[in-house]
Amino acid sequence: MLKPHQQPDRSERYSALRPYSFDEHLDVLCVYDAEIISAVFRSEDFRTNPFAEHYKYIAGRTGLDFDAAIETLAHIPFSWDDEEHRRLRGEMNRVVSADSREHIAGMDAFIAGLVGDNFVAGGEIDLNEQVARPIFYELFGRWLHVDLKDFFSDSGISQVFDAALSLNKRKKVNKSLGELKCAFARRAAGLPTSPEIAVAMNAVGNDALIGSLVLSLWHVLEQTPGARLADVAFPSSLVETGVPFIERIANRDIEINGMKVAKDQKVRLVIDATSRQITGQEADLFFGKGRHLCVGKPMSLVLWRSLSRALNAVPLRYTLRRLELRDGDYAFNYPEHAWIGLHD
Ligand code: HEM
Repeated sequence: MLKPHQQPDRSERYSALRPYSFDEHLDVLCVYDAEIISAVFRSEDFRTNPFAEHYKYIAGRTGLDFDAAIETLAHIPFSWDDEEHRRLRGEMNRVVSADSREHIAGMDAFIAGLVGDNFVAGGEIDLNEQVARPIFYELFGRWLHVDLKDFFSDSGISQVFDAALSLNKRKKVNKSLGELKCAFARRAAGLPTSPEIAVAMNAVGNDALIGSLVLSLWHVLEQTPGARLADVAFPSSLVETGVPFIERIANRDIEINGMKVAKDQKVRLVIDATSRQITGQEADLFFGKGRHLCVGKPMSLVLWRSLSRALNAVPLRYTLRRLELRDGDYAFNYPEHAWIGLHD
């Protein structure tokens, strides 16, 4: 079943709930207004979600081994708000900033080649498998000095952030994270960082990047069905996000932009409700704000622009075929497949 943030007609629902509304089922205060979301992101009076605590609790209750998930989450910068946050953020920043000019030029050339090879008349393209996923492999391969294709499979590791995942899926995610850590550990001598940081970067960047690229492409292409790719007007920023919401917890009773929040209340910042696809305006909240601003933002935007340029060089017409969102997904908007047809 599709969740509220995945419904194609969610725009009206968001309008009815704006600026914020309490969801009794989730016991969460949901925020749909761009200015309030921005204020909460920037506020020192809210803390991030301690993701690992949830796994520790489930492990304690069930006796199951969730060590790999707990270790990964302990290496995610937004699991923390203290010195550990600064340390992990600094380390990831160092990895993604190294040789950045070379990587930007390399990614641009890679994307031009990928599009040139795959976008041929009479063909059908899966925008996930044949476009966004190879881009992800190439980027993370460059950053981490490995060939990810050799050992990385799409096993949904980003779903480690999903608080509502079934126990069976959690076990699978935990196993995949453990295997990925071992694969990085075997290549530790060549890695520019620790295997734990490499796993954490993949978990935080995978579904966010692939989901956002595919959904944004799909949405832009939906505006002019049957047009030539060369004539499509690609906006300079992403228009849809794979990360529909981010949560925070209030450190004290507080009123922020007119919204009252009790101490320890969880607040869900529904970024998806601020997207250009929903509001018609650029809100610039897809990558968060303030101290946890996305470390992958500059490169994600570079990739989107490279992809737009490469597609604008294709003279073919396209037809949208089918978009399949991952089922049972409470944390991401992740299209497992998005097929388009190509013709003269
Ligand atoms: C279009 C793709 C992406 C989107 C929409 C996205 C979205 C976000 C958002 C909303 C946050 C804020 C989390 C919070 O405030 O709690 C965030 C943080 C973060 N993102 Fe991304 N992200 C994307 C790509 C990437 C990539 C490719 C990486 C590469 C490693 C990455 C690494 C990070 C890290 C490390 C943080 C945590 C920063 C901190 O806590 O200081 N992201 N991202």
